[in-house]
Amino acid sequence: MPITTVIFDAYGTLFDIAAAARRVAAEGSFPALKDLWQDLASDWRNKQLEYSWLRAVTGDHTDFWQVTQDALDWTMERHGLSDPALRDELLDLYRQLDAYPDARSCLEALRTQGIGIGILSNGSPAMIATACDAGGLNGLIDKILSVETVGVFKPSPKVYNLVETKFSVSRDSVLFASSNGWDASCAAAYGFVSVWVNRNGLPLDRLPGRPAHILKDLADVPNLI
Ligand code: LAC
Repeated sequence: MPITTVIFDAYGTLFDIAAAARRVAAEGSFPALKDLWQDLASDWRNKQLEYSWLRAVTGDHTDFWQVTQDALDWTMERHGLSDPALRDELLDLYRQLDAYPDARSCLEALRTQGIGIGILSNGSPAMIATACDAGGLNGLIDKILSVETVGVFKPSPKVYNLVETKFSVSRDSVLFASSNGWDASCAAAYGFVSVWVNRNGLPLDRLPGRPAHILKDLADVPNLI
């Protein structure tokens, strides 16, 4: 089937999830973060995903903003950080993450190709809307799809199924791009033409689905159409 629609994961794919901790460290107002920001960003992300998967398995859903706060609280405690002002600053910046430099040009190129463009994310509608605004991606996305519609996180097939429902397309005409190896693998198993955007040079996840394409960033996504 020809590709009619390109769907992007949000966090880590379009938006730089390390940007909040990196920026706080660079600002210098919280010296504890100078040597710690990378560990903090990575622990925060890993715990956020872990909580999302556990909540999907147990059926105890809450929205991704709550999960993000819970993960930050765990991470700060782990690193001996308890300053509420630091917590507020990190969360504030997380709402307004930078978009990766390759995100905008990729979306603009797809626009000129007349392709349907969507985001499919664990993020709540408010989180994704704020991030698109801050990242300068407004006007480049046709539809923002949030897991909140189905009340369960990725990689539940109910989430991937939102694309078929909301775009009225078949799964084999959808190119799905994610920087999260597990997301790219599970989307491939679901039946999308999956692209793993391997920004961090990680090994391929040992999961049943195999991405059809592996790229280092989003620059070549339009060339896959
Ligand atoms: C998302 C997370 C998984 O945006 O990155 O759905």
